[in-house]
Amino acid sequence: MLLYFCIMKIQNDILLRAARGERTERTPVWLMRQAGRILPEYRAIRAKLSGFKELVETPELAAEVTIQPVDILGVDAAIIFSDILVIPEAMGLPYSMLESTGPFFEKTIQNSSDVSHLRIPDPEDALGYVMEAIRITKRELNGRVPLIGFAGAPWTIFSYMVEGKGSKTFSRAKRMLYTDPILSHQLLDKITESTILYLQAQVKNGADIVQIFDSWAGVLSPAQYNEFAIPYISRICSAIKDVPVIVFAKGAFFARAALASLSCDVIGLDWNMDIAESRKLIGPDKTLQGNMDPCLLYADYETIKKETKLMLDAFGSGRHIANLGHGLYPDTDRDKVRCFIDTIKEYQK
Ligand code: CP3
Repeated sequence: MLLYFCIMKIQNDILLRAARGERTERTPVWLMRQAGRILPEYRAIRAKLSGFKELVETPELAAEVTIQPVDILGVDAAIIFSDILVIPEAMGLPYSMLESTGPFFEKTIQNSSDVSHLRIPDPEDALGYVMEAIRITKRELNGRVPLIGFAGAPWTIFSYMVEGKGSKTFSRAKRMLYTDPILSHQLLDKITESTILYLQAQVKNGADIVQIFDSWAGVLSPAQYNEFAIPYISRICSAIKDVPVIVFAKGAFFARAALASLSCDVIGLDWNMDIAESRKLIGPDKTLQGNMDPCLLYADYETIKKETKLMLDAFGSGRHIANLGHGLYPDTDRDKVRCFIDTIKEYQK
């Protein structure tokens, strides 16, 4: 079965070629949070279940919602429907997804005994439902587009494990960096080991490319990012062989040069980052991904087309994968999303 995946040719492989820096006939496009509440087809499946987690943990349904945006929106890749929080759960901290407030962890990490009790899980076992969702998705995609696997970056996972929920400041998590750097490194190390095994298993089961989400990168100082984030992301990048790696560090405008030194293929930009300046800081040898403000999609069609073309002009002939600068907001009109995607697909380089 695995051999079958390896030799199956992907028909639309434009995203993989762009990630590796090969020439492409047009700019590929996918969207963070493309599978989700903007699609009535997603909401219909979700409404029949007890909640988000049941969807994540039911491989047939997770595969179905993974493929929906490929059919409905025409994106150049699918991203496996899951969440970055499955890693803390597999390590020993179960989460719940509260309807209006987001993730919540009953147990959090506060001291060295908490860290020592965390497992480094075998992903085929503890996260077998993700692996099965990947295998089903690959079978059902049947080579139409590549499948993106993903995980949270160690610092972002650390934030949820210490904080126990979302936060504007992540001040509890940052407090641990200042008050107990040794324990912080121990926790980051365990998360990193778990994430490496998890991403390697995703690749083994069929992921064609992986993205590391450092969603809360922007709350750290440059010095903290160099000490507590870059070395761990670097270990993950070096451990992923055979497929391209995308690193998306939201808000880390100050770390672009440091990110450029990673052994990854693609660096994600958010909309606060100037495109030309980013290219200068990162150099010509990485593909850049992004970076439209998701709020553009609230505008009228003409504005969406105009701004999307300006974005593409700014990326120019350099290596580029089009995307938003962060995830789609759930109240975005699906036809506006299509307008963004179609404008990219019709644009002549
Ligand atoms: O389409 C895709 O991008 C794939 C699926 C995906 C989800 N979460 C599904 C999801 C991916 C890649 C993620 C990653 C994720 N999860 C991140 C990193 C990306 C980012 O946005 O910065 C983070 C920080 C999380 C943690 C998380 N999950 C939060 C804070 C929330 C609540 C906020 C919200 O949007 O509701 C979630 C829930 C979540 N994850 C939903 C989806 C589709 C919404 C839940 C629902 O449908 O009820």
